[in-house]
Amino acid sequence: MRRRALLLAFFFFLPLLLISALPAKDKPKTAKSDKIGQDFSKFVEIAGAEKVGADQCAQCHADLSKGFHRSAHSMQEVACEQCHGAGSLHVAAGGYSAASKDKIISFRDRSAEQANGVCLSCHSKSEHVRNWFSGAHQAQDLKCSDCHTIHGEAHGEMRGGFQGETPGIPRAIDSRRQLNENCLRCHQKQSAEADLPYHHPIREAKMSCSDCHDPHGGSAGNNLKLSNTNELCFTCHAEYQGPFTFQHPPVNESCLKCHSAHGSPNQNMLSVSQPALCLQCHSAHHNGASLPLVDRCTNCHNSIHGTDIPSATGGSKFIDK
Ligand code: HEC
Ligand code: HEC
Ligand code: HEC
Ligand code: HEC
Ligand code: HEC
Ligand code: HEC
Ligand code: HEC
Ligand code: HEC
Ligand code: HEC
Ligand code: HEC
Repeated sequence: MRRRALLLAFFFFLPLLLISALPAKDKPKTAKSDKIGQDFSKFVEIAGAEKVGADQCAQCHADLSKGFHRSAHSMQEVACEQCHGAGSLHVAAGGYSAASKDKIISFRDRSAEQANGVCLSCHSKSEHVRNWFSGAHQAQDLKCSDCHTIHGEAHGEMRGGFQGETPGIPRAIDSRRQLNENCLRCHQKQSAEADLPYHHPIREAKMSCSDCHDPHGGSAGNNLKLSNTNELCFTCHAEYQGPFTFQHPPVNESCLKCHSAHGSPNQNMLSVSQPALCLQCHSAHHNGASLPLVDRCTNCHNSIHGTDIPSATGGSKFIDK
């Protein structure tokens, strides 16, 4: 019962835990990159054009303008031309074609560098985003708009308008599901792992990829939020943090010595099933001892992550019941 209550409390406080468990010193450091210090304003400039105001845009882009008014940017009074550039030449051209495409900024038709430059003209110093130039996604020429929907369609919408929401379902759940699906559409391997019998509850939308990864980058490998994998795991699995009087060396080294991060066909998300897992490092069991050969070493060695309970023969054999 107590366990269940703990688990419940755990889910309830999950977001809090995450925020509070990431001390400032562990946050990925800003990449030492002169790129982020560059002036991005050139990416919003359109030579010879002047601003005409959002009312003009709404004349021809009525639906889009209406949708935009419900977005986070509109609420911050960011206007059309701060992203699309000054519109006078585009308005004069009366449309958009191959010939007139340099008269307005289209995120579709611009290279990733140019399109992202527009966003970075304001966000180069935003929390997380300042890691952009150190991340795998920048290196792969992803656009900000591959994940963020500015005008508020359903997919990939991050913290925006939440229109896709089903009534009755708490919004945090629905947006987490959207976030995960957006990551999974490109990450086939993780998509398959999320469907394995034992997995972190990604599909169930109890957690999201961005609980562990910063999609914008960061100094830690694999775009992870913390460079020390165990610290990352402890943000949610604090019960294994110790310190224990008797430590099992591989646990201190890395949880990934025994577990996979996303999903596995083996119980408890083990990378290799028992007893093979243990036999990678320990020779076959108990020379001379007449114990039955079982498939789960942890039937007896039940505190495999560490314990304070010593064993009669010295040290600890990680048996505490
Ligand atoms: C006189 C009508 C008119 C006005 C005013 C107008 N546009 Fe357009 N715009 C068009 C037409 C027509 C197209 C091409 C069809 C489309 O994509 O909707 C277009 C296309 C665009 C595109 C390119 C879409 C793509 O394919 O990626 C953007 C961006 C855009 N307009 C932004 C603006 C902004 C910002 C304003 C206000 C400064 C504005 N427009 C004002 C008529 C107009
Ligand atoms: C914060 C930046 C930002 C602001 C502000 C903004 N847009 Fe956009 N707009 C974008 C991005 C990014 C896209 C590309 C969306 C995509 O590829 O999914 C886009 C796409 C468009 C398109 C093409 C859409 C299509 O699907 O054909 C038009 C037209 C457009 N915007 C007009 C406007 C108008 C009008 C306003 C003001 C009411 C505005 N935008 C405000 C970033 C912005
Ligand atoms: C003219 C400045 C400006 C530009 C250009 C701009 N933004 Fe923003 N953006 C803001 C401000 C201001 C906020 C609200 C404060 C904050 O969260 O930093 C914001 C918020 C956001 C948020 C958080 C939204 C939320 O719901 O909390 C995202 C995501 C975002 N912007 C993405 C983008 C992307 C992607 C682009 C390029 C297509 C872009 N921005 C271009 C100024 C800008
Ligand atoms: C691979 C997907 C992805 C790409 C590409 C991406 N983002 Fe994000 N972004 C996210 C996710 C997911 C979040 C929400 C993170 C969270 O809730 O922990 C987010 C959050 C944000 C926020 C809000 C940050 C905050 O702490 O409130 C801003 C601003 C932002 N992104 C801007 C950008 C800009 C600018 C770019 C392009 C240079 C970009 N993003 C590229 C996925 C992406
Ligand atoms: C519980 C934390 C956690 C969650 C949640 C998580 N990851 Fe990971 N991810 C990791 C760790 C840890 C690694 C490093 C694995 C390694 O070193 O073997 C990693 C590695 C990766 C890699 C690079 C290595 C590879 O196998 O290609 C990708 C891509 C990735 N994750 C994508 C995702 C996506 C997409 C999601 C959401 C569906 C996600 N991750 C959810 C912890 C997590
Ligand atoms: C538009 C496609 C696309 C989307 C959407 C996308 N990614 Fe990626 N991601 C890539 C590509 C391409 C790579 C580089 C190749 C690889 O490692 O798989 C990559 C690499 C990664 C890596 C590995 C980083 C490394 O150092 O090797 C992680 C982790 C990751 N993505 C997480 C995410 C998360 C989390 C999301 C959702 C917020 C996401 N991705 C959304 C295309 C995408
Ligand atoms: C954001 C919180 C969070 C982080 C960070 C996290 N986990 Fe989990 N983990 C969970 C949740 C939630 C479950 C599912 C609990 C349940 O369903 O009983 C879980 C389950 C597990 C399980 C049991 C799986 C099973 O099938 O029984 C293992 C093993 C595990 N996590 C290992 C790790 C490792 C290793 C890391 C670090 C790479 C990690 N976790 C990071 C939240 C997290
Ligand atoms: C030496 C291998 C090994 C290492 C290293 C290891 N584990 Fe485990 N872990 C196991 C085994 C074996 C089980 C299954 C225990 C059982 O059969 O009852 C397990 C089970 C779990 C479970 C699911 C059981 C539960 O309590 O819900 C979680 C969560 C977990 N480990 C987290 C971690 C974390 C976090 C780390 C890193 C600090 C870690 N493990 C390191 C072997 C390991
Ligand atoms: C990656 C290697 C590795 C894996 C996998 C591993 N161990 Fe260990 N284990 C060690 C090391 C190193 C020690 C400390 C040195 C020693 O005493 O052998 C240790 C110590 C132990 C001890 C105490 C031994 C003693 O003499 O005091 C027990 C019991 C034990 N492990 C059981 C297990 C079980 C059960 C598993 C599988 C769930 C397992 N180990 C998986 C490396 C590993
Ligand atoms: C039926 C219970 C039981 C099972 C199952 C079991 N062990 Fe043990 N194990 C023990 C006991 C009892 C000790 C001795 C404890 C002591 O000395 O105080 C021990 C000791 C050990 C030691 C310390 C060195 C030694 O040989 O005494 C290692 C390593 C170990 N076990 C590994 C394993 C591995 C690997 C498995 C799975 C293949 C496993 N055990 C399965 C009960 C068990």
